[in-house]
Amino acid sequence: MTLQLLGVDYSTTLFELVGSTLGPWGRTDWMVMDARRLAFRTCFDVVLDKGCLDALLAGWDQLEVLRGWGRQLTDKEERLGEAALANARALLAEVATCLVEGGRYICISYESPSGRQRLFDSVTSASASDAAGGVPLPLPLRLVESAVEVENHNYVYVFEKRQGQQLQQQDGEDGGHERREAVQVEEEPPQ
Ligand SMILES: C[S@@+](CC[C@H](N)C(=O)[O-])C[C@H]1O[C@@H](n2cnc3c(N)ncnc32)[C@H](O)[C@@H]1O
Repeated sequence: MTLQLLGVDYSTTLFELVGSTLGPWGRTDWMVMDARRLAFRTCFDVVLDKGCLDALLAGWDQLEVLRGWGRQLTDKEERLGEAALANARALLAEVATCLVEGGRYICISYESPSGRQRLFDSVTSASASDAAGGVPLPLPLRLVESAVEVENHNYVYVFEKRQGQQLQQQDGEDGGHERREAVQVEEEPPQ
């Protein structure tokens, strides 16, 4: 089996910096593209996101910190926060669209579940109902695993794409709120 890899970023600088360093595992392509408007439909087994969702949500995360400190946000800050959330939802909607049935979305993020769960729920829970970039909610994504990557202080969220009926059946079985506890990724034992 040949593994085909496609890297997407909207910065050409990134591609100039990394070249084709993804390694020798088959074809490696790069495309300059906005992840909120991907040109793909139902074709990837895995989407790996390292830092893109975080980049879209960086402003929103900072506003959440200010909120946590009890700071009243200005109207402008509220609008910026909403725009950031809309961008993040658009990204997740595109991911759901371009995954095949049973495909996985692996999201590596600096943010812990307490900071990301609300966003994930707002697009994947059975009660999610607003439109996300024109895609009907809830998105057919289900969080199946979350983990802490200790060495680099990252969190890893793994979603599986499941179509509507299967998603509802599973939600019915566990109330739609089953979340596995975050597990720590074991470090390699010293040789
Ligand atoms: C935190 S960096 C992570 C870069 C790289 N993936 C890594 O792990 O080192 C976030 C990346 O997301 C890219 N990015 C931000 N918004 C994007 C969008 N709407 N579409 C595509 N790429 C985007 C940025 O250009 C940047 O390269």
